[in-house]
Amino acid sequence: MKMSLQLIKSRSDINSEQPALTIRKLNKVFHTDSGYLNVLEAVNFDIATGELICITGPSGCGKTTLLQLIAGFMTPSGGSIQIKGRTVTRPGPDRCVVFQEDALFPWLTVAENIAFGVKRIMSGNLLSREVHLYLEMVGLTAFKDYLPREISGGMKQRVALARVLILKPQVLLMDEPFGALDAQTREEMQNLLLFLWKELSHTIVFITHDLTEAITLADRIIMMSRNPGRIQSDIPVLLSRPRKKESDAFHQFYRELRSSLK
Ligand SMILES: Nc1ncnc2c1ncn2[C@@H]1O[C@H](COP(=O)(O)OP(=O)(O)O)[C@@H](O)[C@H]1O
Ligand SMILES: [Mg+2]
Repeated sequence: MKMSLQLIKSRSDINSEQPALTIRKLNKVFHTDSGYLNVLEAVNFDIATGELICITGPSGCGKTTLLQLIAGFMTPSGGSIQIKGRTVTRPGPDRCVVFQEDALFPWLTVAENIAFGVKRIMSGNLLSREVHLYLEMVGLTAFKDYLPREISGGMKQRVALARVLILKPQVLLMDEPFGALDAQTREEMQNLLLFLWKELSHTIVFITHDLTEAITLADRIIMMSRNPGRIQSDIPVLLSRPRKKESDAFHQFYRELRSSLK
C-alpha cells in the first residue's frame, strides 16, 4: 500500500509513556431470557494519549457495549479497562460521552446547557469566561441565548460537544455522534472535531459504522467482528492530514479497507 508516512505519530502530544487507555481480555456477557449472550470476547487494545481512534464494525457487534464499559456505565464480565493505569469501576470525570442524539436540557439555553456540568466548581466571571470560550470554539456565540428547540441538529451536537469539553475529560467517548446529521452538516462536524482535537489534544474513541468517516478522522481504525464481538483488525491510517476525501490516496485506502472486511 502506498502511503504518506508523515502521519501516524506526527502529533507531538502523542507520547510513548503510559497509554491513556488499556483494555485487556475484556469480556461481556448479557443474561437474557433466551440464555447467555456473549457480546464481547477477549478484546485487547491500548490507546496512546492524544490519539484519535475509530471503532467500526457491523451493527450488533458490541461497539456501544464497549463504549459503555469504558464509560463505566456497565461492568465487564471479565478482563479490565484502565485509564492511565487506574481501573475503571464507575463513571468518572476523566471520561465523557457524546451520543448520537444528545439530550440537552430543553428548558436551558445553549449557554446554560454548556455551563451545567461546571456550575458546581466554577462561578461568576470565571464560569462566564469559560462558557464563552467553549461557545466560541464550537461557533455558537451568536446562539448562546437560544433554546435547544430553536436550533438545528448540527448545532445541538455542537452544544453536546462543548458541554463535555468544558469538563476537560482525559478521554472523550463518542458513539456515532454525527450519525443522524445530513451529509454536509456531518462533514462540518468532522472538521470541527478535528479542529478541537488539534487545539485541545484529547484522547478520542469515536464509534462509526461509516468507513469514510473513520478514514477522515482516525489515527487508527479498530474493526470489530460480530458474534462474539472481537477485534478483527487494528489498522493505522497512514494518510497525511488534512485528509481529502476526493484524493486518490483516500480512495485507495478505502478500497483496501473494504476488501479487508470481506
Ligand atoms: N443490556 C443488554 N442486555 C442484553 N443484550 C444487550 C444489551 N445491550 C446490548 N445487547 C446486545 O448486545 C449486542 C451488541 O449490542 P451493541 O453493543 O449495541 O452493538 P453495536 O453498537 O455494535 O450495534 C446486540 O446483540 C444487542 O442486542
Ligand atoms: Mg451502537
